[in-house]
Amino acid sequence: MIEIIFFGLFITCVNADGAADVVLSCALVEEGSGLSGMEGGALFSRTPATLVLRDVAVGPEEPLEMLSPFVPPSVPDPELFLFEASVTSPDIPNTDRLLHADCNELEVLCEISRYSSKGLQDSSDQTFFMVSITVEELDFSISLILETLPVEKHQSTLMHNKLGLPLSQSGTLLTKAIFVVFSNTKSLSAPLRGNVVLDCGFKQQEVPLAHQVDVEWRLQHRGKGWKVLDLKTTLDDPEGVHADVNVERKDSSMNAGLVVREGNVSLTLPALKVSDEGTYICTVSIGHFHAQQVIQLHIIQPPHISLSEEKLMLKTPQTLKCFSRNYYPLDAQMEWLFVSPTATEPELFKDQGSLTSHRQHSDGTFSLSSHLVVPPAVPPGTKIICRVSHVGLDAPLDVSVLVETPKIDSYWWFLGFLIVTILFFYQVMK
Ligand SMILES: *[C@@H]1O[C@H](CO)[C@@H](O)[C@H](O)[C@H]1NC(C)=O
Repeated sequence: MIEIIFFGLFITCVNADGAADVVLSCALVEEGSGLSGMEGGALFSRTPATLVLRDVAVGPEEPLEMLSPFVPPSVPDPELFLFEASVTSPDIPNTDRLLHADCNELEVLCEISRYSSKGLQDSSDQTFFMVSITVEELDFSISLILETLPVEKHQSTLMHNKLGLPLSQSGTLLTKAIFVVFSNTKSLSAPLRGNVVLDCGFKQQEVPLAHQVDVEWRLQHRGKGWKVLDLKTTLDDPEGVHADVNVERKDSSMNAGLVVREGNVSLTLPALKVSDEGTYICTVSIGHFHAQQVIQLHIIQPPHISLSEEKLMLKTPQTLKCFSRNYYPLDAQMEWLFVSPTATEPELFKDQGSLTSHRQHSDGTFSLSSHLVVPPAVPPGTKIICRVSHVGLDAPLDVSVLVETPKIDSYWWFLGFLIVTILFFYQVMK
């Protein structure tokens, strides 16, 4: 009884929240259509297409009156590529984020291509399309497979000129999403020895496409590629205890239970090394269908910075060294500046010293040092600054040393103090 009431409430909530259509400008990408040679041997042609995601659930904070439903052209045009996709089951995560992407002038990358895979041609007379949508700024990325919906054919049914598929009365190609692979991160960075979770998930239609899922994570870097981990499991095993896991990168892991229960195929990488950097590809396969997500992992380790001297007293020219140690990646800038006793703002030294070459340590990190010869003309009270810039630092980092009055002065001070003390005691003792 209680369950029924809750169910009822839930439905009302969804209705109250409402739904909206997301309309995206895409490109239909087709292989080799005679253009080769023209555009430097372009093997793919791109044709403008429109994708309408129907009835995307929107949150209560959305002013619904702002969201106008998609209106198809009044006269159906069999030349236009108008894809209409129902995305309610499986629901595509975070699609509501796409609602305002266009208004906010975020770049939405959307590509549609025909999906085919071996075995599929024989077993089905439906047509499938692969759609990939990426909005870099929103960390939004999905790959979805659309299946065309059967259209009742009459004499008046319009056929698409290029695709040869029947169109709906409004001239759209009716489809539904059957399989989605998505990620909420396009790119992330982590420090050495840190842990990272590379986000990837999948959803499939209510009637399972198959009962087994294969997940594979691969890493590509500098033209080479290798497998990180793969997992095969039946979707009837909610704890994932019978999963067949093959770990290539030491200690990398995926939670087989989460894979089965939530379609969460995120990869955990502990104790990061420089060699973990690169492009990760998450591939999920169910039956004849497979789709991927790509995630960039950057290793960023800020430098340790120090100076060779804690204080500087100049009677003769003195070499000051600034060390920048164990950073990654390679690019680091070092600058020498000074603040003279009367100034407040630092100025650049004319002589920027000399840099050693980068040294690479066995853990892949780099070190660099710069040597500055400080002339004795630099007056006491001057602050000498070594400034290091590196992607791992939010802002350039300064280390500094103060030029002190030469020791000779303090020696005389000390001597004077000593004489006074002796005289004092001499008086007292007398
Ligand atoms: C998978 O699970 C992790 C850890 O619980 C979570 O951070 C991540 O957002 C989930 N990702 C997906 C795609 O469900």
